[in-house]
Amino acid sequence: MKKIIISLSFITAFNLFLFAQQPSFYVTGDKKKLIQWVLKGSVENVPIDGKYYSNNMPAQNYLKDEEIAGILTYIRNSFGNKASAITPTEVKNIRAVTK
Ligand code: HEM
Repeated sequence: MKKIIISLSFITAFNLFLFAQQPSFYVTGDKKKLIQWVLKGSVENVPIDGKYYSNNMPAQNYLKDEEIAGILTYIRNSFGNKASAITPTEVKNIRAVTK
């Protein structure tokens, strides 16, 4: 019984940890995914803080490399986030391999 309670506590703690990562995960995580998110838009059902956001996001690929880099660098370093900048060259390179 004690073992089960300990296991359940670990599972709960781990899920809370994963959950706490989620809101910033999209923004401060993998640069390629974030850049592609803006370029391609999204039809994902995104869980953030226990709610699901299911509206489609239209592709924003009409924006210039500099504009996308600026927006993404801003959100990666605002709202308590602290992640590396995204450069126009990185956006250009990802754009070149994104269909
Ligand atoms: C140039 C930057 C961006 C523009 C102009 C933009 C624009 C939009 C628009 C027009 C929608 C549709 C809203 C609606 O149907 O009511 C949308 C939805 C959404 N966008 Fe973006 N977006 C941008 C960047 C991002 C980024 C960087 C993320 C996250 C990493 C993001 C996450 C979402 C999500 C989760 C939704 C669905 C919201 C819902 O279900 O209510 N967007 N976006």
